[in-house]
Amino acid sequence: MIKPAYSPLSTVREYGSLSREELVARIQERKKELNAVILGHNYQVVDIQDVSDFVGDSLALSQEAAHTDADIIVFCGVHFMAETAKILSPEKTVLMPDPGAGCPMADFVTGEGLRALKAKHPDAAVVTYVNSSAEVKAESDICCTSANAVQVVETIPEDQPIIFVPDRNLAQWVIDQTGRDNIIPWEGYCHVHDDMVLDELEFAKEDHPNALVVIHPEARQELLDRADVVTSTSGMVRMAEDHDELIIGTERGLIDKLQKEHPEKTFVPLSKAAICGNMKANTLAKLAWSLDHLRFEVTMPEDIRVRAETALQKMLAVSGGWQDPTPEQERLEMAGVRSKSCGCA
Ligand code: 13P
Ligand code: SF4
Repeated sequence: MIKPAYSPLSTVREYGSLSREELVARIQERKKELNAVILGHNYQVVDIQDVSDFVGDSLALSQEAAHTDADIIVFCGVHFMAETAKILSPEKTVLMPDPGAGCPMADFVTGEGLRALKAKHPDAAVVTYVNSSAEVKAESDICCTSANAVQVVETIPEDQPIIFVPDRNLAQWVIDQTGRDNIIPWEGYCHVHDDMVLDELEFAKEDHPNALVVIHPEARQELLDRADVVTSTSGMVRMAEDHDELIIGTERGLIDKLQKEHPEKTFVPLSKAAICGNMKANTLAKLAWSLDHLRFEVTMPEDIRVRAETALQKMLAVSGGWQDPTPEQERLEMAGVRSKSCGCA
């Protein structure tokens, strides 16, 4: 085991008593020693995003995990995201600062439950949202994310039924976009997005009649019907670059972060109550502890990993996989001016 330059402390509580500056310094130093990369989801608290080497949505993060040449990936997100990184980069050590950061939507479906539904529809293809366990991915034909669900479904022959798990709202969005009548949705949902209601959107629109409405596809159909744009979290980050006034229907933290980055613009949360506690479980103190103690490592049985990887790689192939940065992007990155973004197609 590589010894840290700073002496490690024993407990997360002890790290919690250090200043923000010291935690950041320790994290940066330890990251170099270990040749580690920190991947952070768009919903992470700003402190975590600031120390992340790469911030993005589920698709961009899985592309980055598949591509990185780091030895250790520290995943600041929720469990299925870290698991996805391990599936795609099995030779790397994947760590989670807080193993309790789960995704209640992913818990809606188990491998056993999916096998039972497959037995009832033996001709169906299984399209699985990445917000799912490795075991469920292993039972699937192909995975998708919020950024590519429609594109992925369009690769399945029109006359073949599709079992779509676990998000009923994303399934409905795909049905509306493709016009297919042979999609069998699982009855799962994300409470953070499913709890957003029409009244909240109407109030926000009354106050901001000129704002563009951007909503995540995990929200209910009646909201998506009224959106100007339905897109993933990274899609929202890109929209914020180009527009001055947005009503945004997703997790609150993303909106606070966008507002901090663009103080001159107006970003209105569709719902002020939309907060994912699991995403907020990661803190700088836990991250520093995780790097010093090389915990908590994400593992899974190899037979499950291999089958899950097939479904994920099929998705990455549909989304163009990873594209290496151009020489110009490399030059800018070396000069420290390349913005953090994915290299996906
Ligand atoms: P994105 O892939 O759009 O970042 O969404 C992940 C997620 O968990 C949204 O709730
Ligand atoms: Fe899961 Fe919803 Fe949290 Fe996303 S916001 S991680 S879908 S619980």
